[in-house]
Amino acid sequence: MITMYSLKQQAAAWLQPLTKLSAQHIISMLEVPPSSALGDLAFPCFTLAKSWRLAPQQIAAELCESFHTVAQPYASAAATGGYINLAWNRKYYAPLLLDTIALPDYAQLQPAQKQRIIIDMSSPNIAKPFGVGHLRSTVIGAALYRMYAAAGHEPISVNHIGDWGTQFGKQIVAHLRWSDSEQAAADPIGEALRVYIKFHEEAETKPELEDEARDWFRRLEQGDEEALELWRYFVKVSMEKLDLIYERLGVQFDEVLGESFYNDKMPAVVEQLSALGLLEESQGAQVVRLDELDLPPCLILKSDGTTIYPTRDLATALYRRNVMKGDRLVYVVGGEQTLHFRQVFAVLHKMGYDWANDCDHVAFGLMRINGKKMSTRKGKVVLLEQLIDEAIARAAHIIAEKNPTLPDREQVAQQIGMGAILFSDLKNARQNEIDFSLEEALSFEGETGPYVQYAHARICSILSKAGAVTDDPAIAQNEPVPEMWSDSAWELLGHLSSYREVLGRAVQLQEPSVMARYALQTARLFNQWYSRDRIIDAHPQVKPDRLALAKWTGATLERTLKLLGMAAPQEM
Ligand code: ARG
Repeated sequence: MITMYSLKQQAAAWLQPLTKLSAQHIISMLEVPPSSALGDLAFPCFTLAKSWRLAPQQIAAELCESFHTVAQPYASAAATGGYINLAWNRKYYAPLLLDTIALPDYAQLQPAQKQRIIIDMSSPNIAKPFGVGHLRSTVIGAALYRMYAAAGHEPISVNHIGDWGTQFGKQIVAHLRWSDSEQAAADPIGEALRVYIKFHEEAETKPELEDEARDWFRRLEQGDEEALELWRYFVKVSMEKLDLIYERLGVQFDEVLGESFYNDKMPAVVEQLSALGLLEESQGAQVVRLDELDLPPCLILKSDGTTIYPTRDLATALYRRNVMKGDRLVYVVGGEQTLHFRQVFAVLHKMGYDWANDCDHVAFGLMRINGKKMSTRKGKVVLLEQLIDEAIARAAHIIAEKNPTLPDREQVAQQIGMGAILFSDLKNARQNEIDFSLEEALSFEGETGPYVQYAHARICSILSKAGAVTDDPAIAQNEPVPEMWSDSAWELLGHLSSYREVLGRAVQLQEPSVMARYALQTARLFNQWYSRDRIIDAHPQVKPDRLALAKWTGATLERTLKLLGMAAPQEM
């Protein structure tokens, strides 16, 4: 396969004997010149100046001359300001690059070592609204899942539902005391949230409620049938609701294993920690000290002997490693849990598990939503469904204005509305905080999902028009043959030819935004090219190559959007 990366390797192979640097070193030094008119790659000569005892400009000039003799006719070089700028022979390489991106397995990478990767994603809490943090985890996790698969790994998604913990005692008390059966039938989660909030308000003046809640949770932990039945009710109504959300997001899980699944697996962890002499008492609780790492101690057993979140995550990690045979454990969870995961991974290390190095907390930043209507009274929890509905409604409105005769309007509105939300999340480096604005997300201009989707639809329309148009013989006779590989066509081709390299980097960084940026750049480069070079009525000498370039641009856009979980409508 001839890709942009193999061209870099080729350049390095030529430069290697001339510079006496290793090929890998040269590749790491190669830069992309600020404008494609300057060339395709730039090699800086500044670091050579010291050992060569020459000015960088002089080195560049000398290297340039020797480069010419070895690289002719495949590439040319020019020295400018201490750099050698390399330019590929476009006529020679363009057909090879085009052939490569048309290969059926072009978009599928083969890793040196295939890994089974367990991805903990979404993981919302039962009887609570699905928050924006869970949305981000789901969206980023699902994108990572597809990226790992495209990179040739074996991802396994796990929804680690928060279905256990002392809060269920409170939930049960609140439910028994205040839940309205009619309300609960109509909107179980809404009612559960209402009474849960009421519990906290009431408990401020009636502390006996807390005792009652503790008692119910104790009954639950002891397997009391009445408590279990209430718990099952909350799990059931929550899962029904969650499944609807996942369906809309187009996300599936290979495993749904709630926190309760690890109830019977925690005693063994506690025993093991104790046998290893890692447990220490601290104010009545059992902890693992992590002083040497400058971390606060990791709490394992509370003073009343009950286990907590970290204990559960230790049991979970052991299960994913030993039973599910994960080579890498990935946790897509908000940045506010960074300390938690550092502690858990550190404890695994202390237990003697080197594979703790293969556990990653894939953290992400907060997302704020500034549409007032979409937050609940508390102003904190955003109801995701309202957000999605609103996005789709607005997308439908935009379509009605822009393209009123579009068939499948409803479906396209869904694809655009959902795509807008997904893209405005995924285009940001995941650790960044996001200020989400629906208005901005739905714009057809700028760094948005609709902008990328629209470029794809535009290409589909160009291709179908071009297929219907017969070439005008007058053009062939009267017009000079234009340059096929103009700067903008060549730049677009180079970009398409770097897909594999970019995907590899995105996977390594566990960063879907790299692919979102790649999609944006694909759309931009296409629009730039199309504003300069004709496609539908192009000169017959260049038309086939232009159509091929347009076609593979469309395919690349579609493929990248799919990685991000977005649809690529043909028309919009
Ligand atoms: N349910 C937790 C929350 O909402 C997230 C769980 C993340 N996964 C994990 N293995 N700890 O905060």
